[in-house]
Amino acid sequence: MKVLHVVGARPNFMKAAPVHAALAARGVEQLLVHTGQHYDAAMSDVFFTELGLPEPDANLNVGSGSHTVQTAEVMKRIEPLLVEQRPDWVLVYGDVNSTVAAALVCAKLRIRIAHVEAGLRSFDRSMPEEINRIVTDALSDLLLTPSADGDENLHSEGVDASRIHRVGNVMIDTLVRLLPRAEERWPNLSRDLGIDRYILLTLHRPSNVDDPETLRPIVETLADISARIPVLFPVHPRTAEALRKMNVQTPPAFKLTEPLSYLDFTALQQHATAVITDSGGVQEETTFLGVPCLTMRPNTERPVTIAVGTNTLIGNDLVALRAAVDDILAGRGRRGAIPELWDGRAAERIADVLLTS
Ligand code: UD1
Repeated sequence: MKVLHVVGARPNFMKAAPVHAALAARGVEQLLVHTGQHYDAAMSDVFFTELGLPEPDANLNVGSGSHTVQTAEVMKRIEPLLVEQRPDWVLVYGDVNSTVAAALVCAKLRIRIAHVEAGLRSFDRSMPEEINRIVTDALSDLLLTPSADGDENLHSEGVDASRIHRVGNVMIDTLVRLLPRAEERWPNLSRDLGIDRYILLTLHRPSNVDDPETLRPIVETLADISARIPVLFPVHPRTAEALRKMNVQTPPAFKLTEPLSYLDFTALQQHATAVITDSGGVQEETTFLGVPCLTMRPNTERPVTIAVGTNTLIGNDLVALRAAVDDILAGRGRRGAIPELWDGRAAERIADVLLTS
């Protein structure tokens, strides 16, 4: 059996790594294709090194562009490779543009697709990832879901039950494996950054960062909060560009850094008093780590992080954000529990499903 993995953007890498390892342990022939959607060393290379992913067999170097351009470039560049390689399965991950682009090409070439992290829905089509999720699931032969809500969404869309396999959360496999190594980073990180008690912040969704009218008050509120507890903000390239244009001044306790590596970021999540984010993956990682998470989005495609975990939706309500931070600082943060099948063995289950499908 020959399996080809398609990865492109930062959140794909930690999902592909355990699946690649589980299939390698079973002697499956594998190819790894990087679309090049993320290309900075800090957004890509460092993840390959820390996660133990092999060098990609091909890099399509698509780079940045509008959604249409990026999707179309992946499609154009991956087609000849798929025609040449004719894998038995193509594995696509999550909800980024590279995922939907590869799925579209495979569907036309009649190459079987397995979607890892299938079935998630925010029910908000203003979010580009929601379009990517719907289209990728509609085209996939195997739908590998992380949680029961994923199965329910697919059932209600009329997907045949035989295509759905609840395997659990593969990103948590990587977290379970690498948490001890991340923990080794903590003493130096804490010393170098000069912090031990802090809020960790990530923001990169277009809906939060593209419009200065939205971004400016968020940053000002967080700068205010930093008078009470330091705020550590590793800045995504999209957000860095927006902040440069806005030219906002922030106090020293509001600390901006370059994007961080997987191990450093994991250590900083583990030790944070709280995390404020608009990322999907961070909502899940904080739930696993038992760290309160305040999500700057009106909805989430990962509702189990609210029902079971430590997540609270804040939307763009900055009064609610201040109140939630007050609660956490007063020791009333959510503790939560770990959802079912977030046990570090999802990739093993994926490998088993693939080998028997
Ligand atoms: C993409 C995903 C998003 C995911 C995020 C994680 C889609 C639709 N979005 O968003 O779901 O949460 O990755 O980071 O696929 N840039 C660089 N260097 C890089 C990559 C990007 O400078 O290595 C800059 C470019 O200016 C680019 C912008 O960031 O235009 C946005 O990159 P892009 O890949 O289009 O989307 P993300 O916002 O990263």
